[in-house]
Amino acid sequence: MILYYSCSGSSKHIAEVIAEKYEEDAICINEGVKNGVWGDYYSDTPYIIICPIFNMLIPHNVCEYLKNSRFEGSDEVIFMGVCSYSAGNARGYVNSLFKQKGKKSIFTSIIMPSTNVFGRAKMSDKQRAKVVARAEVEALKIAHLVYSAAPIPQTAVSLVGVIGSALNPTIVKMLTDKKIIVNDNCTRCGKCSEVCTLNNIVVDDDGVKFLHNCNHCSACINNCPEKAISVK
Ligand SMILES: Cc1cc2nc3c(=O)[nH]c(=O)nc-3n(C[C@H](O)[C@H](O)[C@H](O)COP(=O)(O)O)c2cc1C
Repeated sequence: MILYYSCSGSSKHIAEVIAEKYEEDAICINEGVKNGVWGDYYSDTPYIIICPIFNMLIPHNVCEYLKNSRFEGSDEVIFMGVCSYSAGNARGYVNSLFKQKGKKSIFTSIIMPSTNVFGRAKMSDKQRAKVVARAEVEALKIAHLVYSAAPIPQTAVSLVGVIGSALNPTIVKMLTDKKIIVNDNCTRCGKCSEVCTLNNIVVDDDGVKFLHNCNHCSACINNCPEKAISVK
């Protein structure tokens, strides 16, 4: 079973590439994460869970969802952390979370172009396409090992990664939505509110309001059909 969480499409893309090749469904968990409706899953084959890395860990609301959801059947989880440079020690966190659920998990990371509009690294379209193509190959290689029941190498963790992940709670506390601005192109369609899994955005007759519980996932900005949202 392939489950994915995605704010700006990269994890979704990786999930769909694997799903297409292995004729499986890629199941999006965003709505469950957003609404606190926990999953109740059954899979005979290992679970493949694909999720972005934010500030060297998986997003806190995804942790909550995974902790509270039921994963019956296979006791193996292959986790793909989608990131742009380093997954930090997300491996340690994910493995301990699934150990508590009686599962053996293997953490792998897939490098995709960054979708973080709060600190986007400049990349040409050509470079971007190259990174995506490499990520697709890597994801399919891991999926092949999963479906052929072969051993899967885990992503290594560096000391810098361990320190980065340890700093995550402090960094997340410092994140603010005060620099997000909405321009006159906004049609109040509500897409930003719909895609915000922290329920941080309200759209009403007065416009778009941010409720100061933002983890900079960038989903509102990357998914606005009018490109009306940006960072000051
Ligand atoms: C708030 C935020 C924090 C991020 N932190 C990291 C990080 O610590 N390490 C990293 O390699 N990439 C980091 N990234 C890049 C994302 O992991 C990358 O853009 C990922 O592909 C996003 O997946 P999605 O499009 O499925 O949401 C961060 C992105 C965001 C928005």
